[in-house]
Order: sequence, then structure tokens, then C-alpha cells
Amino acid sequence: MNQLQQKYQDRITHTLSKYPDKRSAVMPLLYIAQEEYGWVSPEGIDQVAEICDMDATQVKSIAGFYTMYSEKPKGKYWLQVCTDLPCALRGADQFHEDLKAYLEVEEGGTTADGMFTVEHVMCLAACDKAPMLQCNFHFAENLDMDKMKVLIEQWRNEVNQQVNGSR
Ligand code: FES
Repeated sequence: MNQLQQKYQDRITHTLSKYPDKRSAVMPLLYIAQEEYGWVSPEGIDQVAEICDMDATQVKSIAGFYTMYSEKPKGKYWLQVCTDLPCALRGADQFHEDLKAYLEVEEGGTTADGMFTVEHVMCLAACDKAPMLQCNFHFAENLDMDKMKVLIEQWRNEVNQQVNGSR
């Protein structure tokens, strides 16, 4: 049993039970690996391949094809700001620039504390609620920098509580 199976045994068993062929579970299992490592790391790919009885190269090519999998390390909070045209018309470009400036990162960059990665993405199908972003696959909508600063503070507090709770 590999590390992912040990840590996420119930989730993995449940995921596998939904498919007639375990190879079909590769994508949801890649989400679990990404959650564990913060990206689809080589060890995550190897373990998913082992669970699905696939070649690691096949799993890597699937992970590389879809934009929801990250092939490089990300911050704990992966902030994907939609800057596609409808959102841009509602101020998303400026919001994206202001967010990067506030967190002191370049496009695609991660804050020095490893907490936040900021990147822009194409339409996330919430065009009427811009500026919006996706944070670890959860939407935050109708944003401005005042709301964003509150969210950033909340996320920082969450991590601090986790760290303090584990001491
Ligand atoms: Fe941004 Fe659709 S254009 S969510």
C-alpha cells in the first residue's frame, strides 16, 4: 500500500468503487495526489499509476493535458483569476494586477511564505460575477481588493490554526 492509499484509503476505495475499471479513476485520483502534494508531483503520479495499474508515463500525459492539474509546485492557496473578456470588462484585469501587487508576486508566482500562487485563467463560467477567482477549485465572486484582503487574512488564519493545532 503506497502513501496515498494509506492516507486516503476511504476516499480512494470510494472513488475506485464508482468505476468498472480502475484506470477510469485516474483523474479523481490525480486530484487526491494534487491535494496531498500541492501539485501532481512525480511521487504522486507514480502512486496514482500504481493504484490504477497504469504506466506512470500514461498518467503523466493525462495530468499534462488538463489545466486543472498543476505540473509545478503551487502555494497552499492556488488563486486563479479569470481575466477573459467578459470578466475584463468588469475590472478583472485591474483586480488581477492589484492582487499580484498586494501579494508581491509575478504572474504564476508564489508568495515567499509558500501560501499563495496567483495566475490568470480563461473563462470559469462565472462571467456575471466578476471579478472572480477560483481558489483550490472553490469560487470567490464579486470581488474587490477590500474583500480579497479579508479572504487572504482568513486563509492565513486557517493555516496558522492548523499549524498551532498540530503542535
Ligand atoms: Fe470570466 Fe467567464 S469570462 S468567468
